[in-house]
Amino acid sequence: MTAYEIIIKKRNGDHLRPDEINHFIQEYLHNRIPDYQMSAFLMAVYFQGMDEGETKALIDSFLQSGKKISLQDIPGIKVGKHSTGGVGDKVSIILASIVAAAGVPVPMISGRGLGHTGGTLDKLSSIPGFRIDLDELKFRTIISEVGTCLIGQTADLVPADRRIYALRDVTGTIESHPLIAASILSKKLAEGSNALVLDIKCGNGAFMQSLSDAENLARVLINNGKRSGLQTVAYITNMDHPIGRAIGNWLEIRECIDCLRGEEIEDLMHITHQLAGTMICLGGKSDTIDEGVAISRDMITSGKAWLKFRNIVQAQGGEIRIIEHPETYPHSEYTLDINAESSGWVKSIGAREVGLSLIQLGGGRKKTDDEIDPKAGIVLHKKPGDPVKKGEKLFTLYTDAKKSIQPVSSRIKSVIQIVAGECAAPKLIYKFLQ
Ligand code: URA
Repeated sequence: MTAYEIIIKKRNGDHLRPDEINHFIQEYLHNRIPDYQMSAFLMAVYFQGMDEGETKALIDSFLQSGKKISLQDIPGIKVGKHSTGGVGDKVSIILASIVAAAGVPVPMISGRGLGHTGGTLDKLSSIPGFRIDLDELKFRTIISEVGTCLIGQTADLVPADRRIYALRDVTGTIESHPLIAASILSKKLAEGSNALVLDIKCGNGAFMQSLSDAENLARVLINNGKRSGLQTVAYITNMDHPIGRAIGNWLEIRECIDCLRGEEIEDLMHITHQLAGTMICLGGKSDTIDEGVAISRDMITSGKAWLKFRNIVQAQGGEIRIIEHPETYPHSEYTLDINAESSGWVKSIGAREVGLSLIQLGGGRKKTDDEIDPKAGIVLHKKPGDPVKKGEKLFTLYTDAKKSIQPVSSRIKSVIQIVAGECAAPKLIYKFLQ
């Protein structure tokens, strides 16, 4: 079958055989299928979906596109974590340090920003010198010596996801269960994890907008993860509002540093401890998730997680001086404070619009090959549930792109809803599925 025939078959909603799916992916990786045909295929999958057998075949062909790392020589249950993507979601970076400090090895192949959501790799790349393109040997050595290592897909490691992820980002084909499942599980199966904690984001800043959609995706991921021998559990968490106070690559690393040094940013650390506690439990270092959460908290208060983060940065070539003195990082050329025009309570802050505003400030990509300004970002001075007085600071914008300041300031004013009556902080975790 030609690429054209496979596209037509999927477009018409017919079932694809595993050999057809595998052939399509392999031919693409060998540059015998161009980006425009892959884009058409992705759009056909987006609209027609895939059944269980097709999804399994897609995950397998992504996985077979590169090496599968074996971490058998490293003692302990290796536990991975992955989020389906959110705004201000820097949980992986804090949690990897906590869980590794608690003695559970954490292999982590992460992704770059996708659509309006941020990516762990882009955040880590804002640390001068930090290498996310390490080979398998280095990845294994660092996990064995430090307890965790965070890298990206390479020519050896899930190259199918590396190339297709970048294409989905710019072709409107992100929000598809089989494509998300193949992207996430291929990375997690390749990285050598034995167990996996998923954070399925749900809400206006997530790819899954409704609880039922998030739950369906969770089921696809859990079933396929387990089928491949990965003990998989999932949390469905609220992504209506950004997580934490910082949005933007370096600003988010700064926030991670603050949290690792003991600052309690409530929503961010609540989710982090719950996920880290679950990983600690799956890794066999606690009998229950609650005990795991207590260990996670102790890793922060004892300073062990902060020490672990410094070890990670050092092992992956990052500049320790900047991590210890984040105030010395270069500053954006332009900053602008946006103040409240009325008093009341913050009811909501639209996460998706905040993510899109970050792209406009230069902190994300509009095209695959766009350069990111790591300094660009937005600080939220108020969060949902907070009281606010007229004239108080709501946001600070950071950018080098002067022409974006005015449009973003108008846009961002409309993403915050301030109401007269008191409102509670939103629920953060909706469900736990296993
Ligand atoms: N994270 C990934 O790695 N892939 C997706 O498709 C979505 C989120």
